[in-house]
Amino acid sequence: MVVEKMIPSFQKASGGLFSDVEKADVGDAVLKIRERGGALMAWADPFYPLPSVPPHVGQAMIDSIESGFASHYTAPIGNQELKVEVAKKLARINGLEVDPERNILITPGSDAGLFFAMLPFIHQDDEVMIIDPSYPNNFQNTEILGGKVVRVPVYMEDGYQFRMEEFEKRLSPKTKMIVLTNPNNPTTTVYRRDKLVSLSEFAVKNDLIVVVDQAFEQPCFDDIEMVTIASLPGMWERTVSVFSLSKGMGLSGLRVGYIVADAVIIDKMFGTAVAVLGATNTAAQMGAIAALRDDSFAEPYFESFDRRRKMVYDLLHDIPGVSMQISESGFLSWINVSGLGTGSEVAAYLNQEAIVAVNGGEAYGPAGKDYIRIVHGVLTEEELLEATKRIRKSLLKLAERRGLTAL
Ligand SMILES: Cc1ncc(COP(=O)(O)O)c(C=O)c1O
Repeated sequence: MVVEKMIPSFQKASGGLFSDVEKADVGDAVLKIRERGGALMAWADPFYPLPSVPPHVGQAMIDSIESGFASHYTAPIGNQELKVEVAKKLARINGLEVDPERNILITPGSDAGLFFAMLPFIHQDDEVMIIDPSYPNNFQNTEILGGKVVRVPVYMEDGYQFRMEEFEKRLSPKTKMIVLTNPNNPTTTVYRRDKLVSLSEFAVKNDLIVVVDQAFEQPCFDDIEMVTIASLPGMWERTVSVFSLSKGMGLSGLRVGYIVADAVIIDKMFGTAVAVLGATNTAAQMGAIAALRDDSFAEPYFESFDRRRKMVYDLLHDIPGVSMQISESGFLSWINVSGLGTGSEVAAYLNQEAIVAVNGGEAYGPAGKDYIRIVHGVLTEEELLEATKRIRKSLLKLAERRGLTAL
């Protein structure tokens, strides 16, 4: 059988063409929920606040098409002008002073970037420490590369900040890497400076590589400081940072991300970029230049995301059997529904009862079993309000059925 010829990690892959598993981000689940007049709240795409392309970004792409520039490759490592704009942004937002020619690689989105960031380092049986719950690709990428996932649990009572002892007790001679999603998806946690300093010291002491995914670095709320771990002492030479224009800028369709690392690492990536990535879409890179040069269009998005997280929190936090903390970043809510069922059960129930698609938390690791994840960004604010009210009503009904009363 052809499948048996595949490497074990691919044999195990689920959610494909012939699978019963319905993954919200693959296939026609989106169409199905919309056909039923329902609300999609399971896709981490900030489709709203602005469902169209910002005019100056669109114009830059159109110009590149009209001039013919867009019908040709850029260098596989990315357009130089874009890298100059990325370097300015890294100095402005991330506290990193980098050389655009030696430290930046443009990628077709950060998913591709995340895989490429791990590729040079992970092979058979290398252990990779990953916070559980976190972005599913972190686990899958490790397995595809033949590495071993070492899950590091975080707890609601700590606001999902990690405990250093949970890393320390899992350290082994095979530990090679920590993959950190900061801010985390699905918990929205922004890891605090003191935590990241301790983690850095741990990485330096044990000579570990850190891959950090900062796709959700903007916006963070309530003046929480977003620290770029690569800027901490001893970290630059051992950190591969992955960024995206998809989330804070709402430009997921452009498929533009970037990797930032020391020249020693980037040199090897430049040497393999054409084989691994090809090159990022030229028109999209021109749009990205315009977006980075004038990113003021994203300000109203951040205000809308702030209103959205408060709206969802206000409507759901006091339901019996439910507990949640207000989101610290982005456009997600992570909700413990353990009093009402597992995350998958509650997600299936909400799909029927409230006609909404939300994510069961298990997709983000076993620690997510009792949770659901709600995305605030795929609907208008009015639609979000209506859909969240439906969720509230349905969960109250479920709580009553379980004999739970208001606290
Ligand atoms: C944490 C995280 N990182 C990376 C990505 C990938 O984003 P993109 O490939 O659009 O840059 C996502 C998308 O959902 C994400 O949630």
